[in-house]
Amino acid sequence: MFSRPRRNRKSAAIRNMIQETHLGVEHLIYPLFLVDGKNIKDEVASMPGNYRWSLDLLLKEIEECVNLGVVSFDLFPAVDEALKDKKASYSYADENFYLHAIRKIKETFPEIMLMSDVAMDPYSSDGHDGVVRDGKILNDVTLPILSRMALAQAQAGVDIIGPSDMMDGRVAEIRQTLDENNFEDVSIMSYTAKYASAFYGPFRDALDSAPKSGDKKTYQMNPANKREALIEADLDQAEGADMLMVKPALAYLDVIHLLNENYDLPITAYNVSGECAMLYAAAQNGWLDYNQAMPEMLLSMRRAGASAILTYFAKDFAKLLKA
Ligand code: PBG
Repeated sequence: MFSRPRRNRKSAAIRNMIQETHLGVEHLIYPLFLVDGKNIKDEVASMPGNYRWSLDLLLKEIEECVNLGVVSFDLFPAVDEALKDKKASYSYADENFYLHAIRKIKETFPEIMLMSDVAMDPYSSDGHDGVVRDGKILNDVTLPILSRMALAQAQAGVDIIGPSDMMDGRVAEIRQTLDENNFEDVSIMSYTAKYASAFYGPFRDALDSAPKSGDKKTYQMNPANKREALIEADLDQAEGADMLMVKPALAYLDVIHLLNENYDLPITAYNVSGECAMLYAAAQNGWLDYNQAMPEMLLSMRRAGASAILTYFAKDFAKLLKA
């Protein structure tokens, strides 16, 4: 035998020397759930260790994360049912607690990366990402609502806007609105290939944002399709997106790889709620070792070609590095 691959694995020094892919806390974006009120830390039942926070406690949580090295966050609002309507008008209302929180967080931690979510569903009485009329999700009438929401978030001080709605043409519309209002420095991380996935369940529990009727299959992508992701990526790039996201991540590693091979923009992956919930549950039952399986999962996304990963594991991973 001339070739013995095991020679390259014979010690930790050699294994580390030739390691191909690295995973660091700088690659991770931590999604956080915000509720209105004070002194609230309400655990999401289907995602143990993740909470709906009121702003006062969230500021402390962010400080803890920053001290652990996690400096990138994506904020999602859990909105009271009484504030929801068919046009998601609360999403850009002056008194919106989410917009106030963005302002306060960026004032307190100017150096962090704060990303926001643009989609109607947390504010919509229909629970959809677009305007619903006669059971249909309307594309073009949704666009001005999305760009108004994005502008309000830019005014509040976010670094990156994350349109997660999957309406056609929304990146161009948002980019144009931001530029016209002198927010040309605010970035757009587009949810480029977002699939109609069963893995969003725990997130919808957290925000109480599940569709009131129907499903999201007329706007989110068919899980069976890969080439279609190239069409979405072409459009997002042409419309001015700064980063392209694939979502979910673990069940769509081939799509992450495909976009990474075909585009020069950074590719990000959303390791979604259901993917994390599977591991929490298996670990709680003693069926998997959380501290080993969790970094392995994240590493697979980096290996597939993701530059950054949105993941509920971000804080635990940072703690693991310090341990
Ligand atoms: C809503 C949105 C969803 C997620 C992020 N933004 C859910 C959905 O499309 O129904 C899911 C994130 C997760 O599951 O962690 N526009």
